[in-house]
Amino acid sequence: MANVPNLSLNDGNTIPQLGFGVFQVPPKDTARITGQAFEAGYRHIDTAQMYRNEKGVGEAIRDSGIPRDELFITSKLNNGFHEPEKARASFDKSLIDLGLDEIDLFLIHWPLPTQYAGDFVSTWKTLIEFQLAGRARSIGVSNFQPAHLARLSEETDVVPAVNQIEVHPYFGNEAARAADKAAGILTESWSPIAQGAVLDDEVITKIAAEVGRTPAQVALRWHLQRGDIVFPKSSTPERMSENFELFDFELDDEAIQAISALDRGEAGRTGPNPDTFDMIPD
Ligand SMILES: NC(=O)c1ccc[n+]([C@@H]2O[C@H](COP(=O)([O-])OP(=O)(O)OC[C@H]3O[C@@H](n4cnc5c(N)ncnc54)[C@H](OP(=O)(O)O)[C@@H]3O)[C@@H](O)[C@H]2O)c1
Repeated sequence: MANVPNLSLNDGNTIPQLGFGVFQVPPKDTARITGQAFEAGYRHIDTAQMYRNEKGVGEAIRDSGIPRDELFITSKLNNGFHEPEKARASFDKSLIDLGLDEIDLFLIHWPLPTQYAGDFVSTWKTLIEFQLAGRARSIGVSNFQPAHLARLSEETDVVPAVNQIEVHPYFGNEAARAADKAAGILTESWSPIAQGAVLDDEVITKIAAEVGRTPAQVALRWHLQRGDIVFPKSSTPERMSENFELFDFELDDEAIQAISALDRGEAGRTGPNPDTFDMIPD
């Protein structure tokens, strides 16, 4: 089985650099698909309250028989639950649905700076409470812009362990990555293959042919060599295995730079802009 590197977080814990994401995996299929990901070798799963499939992840964990300390499970606070009381109740439910006493990593999913009178600091303080209670080993944020990180640093003493943001060859998100790095926060890159959009790219397919790998493997390897954490999603066991075979080849500097040069700046963003995103699901 491939040896996935563990990266050190700023709180002393470690995180496997490669995991499996379950965004858009239907709840009824989640136990089966997560189980297939475990069989392919993944031990790090990225879910969220918003995906409504934490129960399926919990079922797969129980069915797998994999020792708890070999797994790394992340979930995220849904947008309707930023107020401390709601955050506490929803966190309790996440742990119950996942069947865990303690989660490895819990994130604020979106900063929602135009909601809750702009207050995401009290939400962050509530996550700090979960960590102090020993119920979240590590805590972090998602979709935080540099200004949002700066505000947490001014108003609290705990630096997020990770910032999970959109990053792929068409959207380098370099300002956010630089702010993460400067603060000692690891970047987790979501939609690492832009949901498939970068796989036909001429530069990527040419490099893939040169190194004898698939375009998805080349794009994912680019993230890993830049130091970011990734968790590609796939519903098919063949692709799960393909996306896991990333540790027996390397891209040279020229290939890394050629892929980084595909960055389209803001035009490459596929998801919502965190400065304006304000969606609260039903
Ligand atoms: N924090 C956030 O706001 C946020 C937002 C988005 C995503 N995420 C996280 O990031 C994870 C990954 O992002 P994502 O699911 O949006 O997109 P992604 O991993 O970039 O791409 C997934 C898509 O690519 C296809 N695919 C996967 N491997 C492939 C391969 N080897 N060859 C060809 N096609 C392939 C999949 O199809 P099949 O399934 O049909 O194989 C699926 O349609 C999510 O699951 C979630 O955990 C977080």
